[in-house]
Amino acid sequence: MEISKASDAVGAEVTDVNLSQIGDDQFAEIRLAFHDHGALFFRDQDLSPEQHIEFAERWGDIDINRFFTPVEGYPQIAKVLKEADQEMNIGGGWHTDHSYDHVPAMGSVLYALEIPPAGGDTLFAGMQAAYAALDDEMKARLEGLNARHGNAHIFGRDSDYQKKFGGRFGNTESAVQEAVHPVVLAHPDTGVKGLYVNPGFTLAIEGMEPEESNALLAELYAHIMQPKFHFRYKWSKGALAMWDNRSTWHYALNDYQGHRRYLNRITVAGVPLH
Ligand code: SIN
Repeated sequence: MEISKASDAVGAEVTDVNLSQIGDDQFAEIRLAFHDHGALFFRDQDLSPEQHIEFAERWGDIDINRFFTPVEGYPQIAKVLKEADQEMNIGGGWHTDHSYDHVPAMGSVLYALEIPPAGGDTLFAGMQAAYAALDDEMKARLEGLNARHGNAHIFGRDSDYQKKFGGRFGNTESAVQEAVHPVVLAHPDTGVKGLYVNPGFTLAIEGMEPEESNALLAELYAHIMQPKFHFRYKWSKGALAMWDNRSTWHYALNDYQGHRRYLNRITVAGVPLH
């Protein structure tokens, strides 16, 4: 097995590995790389739904996404699907999965089944590299701040997003909860600090007037959106990406109109963040 860095800020490619047959030593190496790089990419896997679940369960319990359509017979697996005649995709903006939960999912394990002939790449951003590059003044300003996250504006029954999405999300009545997390997160496994706010689900910074909160979030987002913190992953059928939701953002590009794109996603449970 070989592990090579994909970019300075986020991600590593892992080659010469069959995820349906890894032993404990290989898994330990993969886990270390995951903590070092925040996202791992494996090509040419040939996984049944059972093998996809088995790999995800090596990391922890499965955190079932309540809004995505599940794969028939496999409630643990969420479909990330855009049909050829649909306009909007899932995850088409910078976000991190499940930050609206009190205990957000640790990671997501996405496996490609059908990829358009061109386009449909996913961008990743490294939150620890982005934090490290902030100046000391900004780091001091962020110290001890918390932010509120929510999902009603995306998954809620009456949200504009859900309407534009053609009602493809389920369980919309349960899209009501909000959660508060630190703006600067010391990673629960490594202690490395990273930014933990995202344009998809972060609503506001606690204790600030809306204008101040919006301005600070906009400044952080503009910082993170610099390409030097990104990696662009080009999918192929059988590729699997796994990312740490506590140290990365991702963005599924929607530039393949008229083609079908279908991946299966499993989210792995996390721990409370403080
Ligand atoms: C997601 O946001 O989890 C989907 C990412 C993708 O489809 O590339």
